[in-house]
Amino acid sequence: MGIMDKFKLDNQVAIVTGGAIGLGKAMATAVAEAGANIIIADINLEAANKTAKEIETSTGVKALAVKVDVTNDEEVDSMVTTIMEKFGRIDILFNNAGIGQHIKIEDMEYSTWNRIMDININSMFLVSNAVGKVMRKQKRGSIINTSSMSGIIVNSPQPQAAYNTSKGAVIMFTKSLAVEWAEHGIRVNTIAPGYMKTELTRPYFEENGDMVQKWVELTPMKRPGVPEELGGIAVYLASEASSFVTGSVFTIDGGYTAL
Ligand SMILES: NC(=O)c1ccc[n+]([C@@H]2O[C@H](COP(=O)([O-])OP(=O)(O)OC[C@H]3O[C@@H](n4cnc5c(N)ncnc54)[C@H](O)[C@@H]3O)[C@@H](O)[C@H]2O)c1
Repeated sequence: MGIMDKFKLDNQVAIVTGGAIGLGKAMATAVAEAGANIIIADINLEAANKTAKEIETSTGVKALAVKVDVTNDEEVDSMVTTIMEKFGRIDILFNNAGIGQHIKIEDMEYSTWNRIMDININSMFLVSNAVGKVMRKQKRGSIINTSSMSGIIVNSPQPQAAYNTSKGAVIMFTKSLAVEWAEHGIRVNTIAPGYMKTELTRPYFEENGDMVQKWVELTPMKRPGVPEELGGIAVYLASEASSFVTGSVFTIDGGYTAL
């Protein structure tokens, strides 16, 4: 098989949690362009449906929107049942749903801390286990978790300890899962994006205050990334092109963590 053929994902089935907008949508679109059928698994069904339709129209693959709260084990299990009924297999999982808030540790409610952990890291335990049952039977699968450069460095100037902690945990969960499931033919990797322009960060970029200026100043490439700039790594990690890659962290941050 030539190298370009190894990037092809024809007839494979990929789930993207939080895939309705932002980075998830961009990664879903990229793997669909490489040939994979897509499940947009999101708490926002309206936006998920819109994205699924867009992807079907632009790429010709099958795309299905499923409403799921990734912190709810019953909803996660029923999502996997629905997907298995409709597609009969799951090859690729993007654990991507996540939230962030700028709150100082001393001002943070315990319930807020827990909500951030639930969505950003505990959900990855739930969804990986539900999908892992299928992947272990198939003896193959690729799981790609969205961490952040915030799992490696502490952002400045905004206080976001809960987010940083959750994203650090995503990296160790990725490595642990990679080691445990290598024998089942399942690879697990994580991407650590820097500042990207999405719904999550749009209000800050629109405000264009001191904080955003500091973000750009601290980024050697002097700009935020755009979601489409995750397309290449998404297809690489999902596909046979990365067949010897597992337990790895990929920073995509315009050089931020190198400085
Ligand atoms: N934007 C950035 O600069 C940046 C940088 C590094 C990492 N990330 C990470 O990338 C991921 C995506 O971020 P984004 O900027 O695209 O965010 P976004 O807010 O634009 O999109 C997040 C999506 O997740 C969905 N979602 C939220 N809670 C959910 C839940 N409980 N169950 C199911 N779906 C849920 C939302 O409905 C939305 O569609 C997150 O994990 C985020 O932490 C973002």
